[in-house]
Amino acid sequence: MKIILLGPPGAGKGTQAKILAKKKNLAHISTGDLLRQNVSESTGLGEKARNFMDRGALVPDELVTQMLIQRISQPDTKNGFILDGYPRNLTQAKELDEMLKTHDTRIDLVLYLDTSMPVIIQRLTGRLVCSQCGLNFHIKNMPPKKDMLCDNCGGELYQRTDDNEQTIKKRLAVYKKEFSPLIEYYGKKRKLHRLSADKEAEEVLNKIMQLIEGYNDSLKV
Ligand code: AP5
Repeated sequence: MKIILLGPPGAGKGTQAKILAKKKNLAHISTGDLLRQNVSESTGLGEKARNFMDRGALVPDELVTQMLIQRISQPDTKNGFILDGYPRNLTQAKELDEMLKTHDTRIDLVLYLDTSMPVIIQRLTGRLVCSQCGLNFHIKNMPPKKDMLCDNCGGELYQRTDDNEQTIKKRLAVYKKEFSPLIEYYGKKRKLHRLSADKEAEEVLNKIMQLIEGYNDSLKV
């Protein structure tokens, strides 16, 4: 199964994708995580991407798409994948379709995690991420059991450099500009399902699971 999670920064795409990937045995592909890994390892791609990410701008399509093509061809995607953070604009959506067509496959579901502005700001300004396993926490909503240490692996938690007020504003502006054409694109293809992501993480997950099961049932008839 191939799923896209769409939604603004802070919608909970990464949080939900990590749980879903385990439950459904799918690869979790986060272009944000892949780019941050390249930045921290100072690869050629990371050096090019750093400046865009620090400003809250999109990294150029050709760099991200090339990275995605490589990631999608890894063996762990055989059973399917969850895309988190890609596509980000119409060009990427079309490139993704082309790429999948060459593998004789397609996207099954596009889940739009609709989130209100106050919730987005509250989540991003309180987010903590594990430096080792990448698990997400939140100072208030999902606090770690031990101060600034990951419950899963004991790694140190940190705040993302783009989770500051100025960069959050820019990321949201970019999102607002690009998201309507994307929603329209997947709406026309009848793949889009909207759900409210303002709710508790477990409630959001249950809704996602219902949508996946509904889709699987529709394939049986
Ligand atoms: P990326 O890493 O993709 O960031 P983003 O889209 O801004 O999304 P976030 O990771 O901020 O939010 P999320 O929805 O995953 O929320 P999370 O689960 O963490 O991209 C970063 C940058 O990389 C971009 O700005 C761009 O420069 C570049 N980039 C990436 N992809 C690109 C592409 N395709 N093309 C070009 N450039 C690209 O949750 C947030 C917080 O809320 C956490 O603390 C979590 O614990 C908490 N939380 C989550 N769900 C709930 C809930 N239901 N209730 C309460 N708290 C919750």
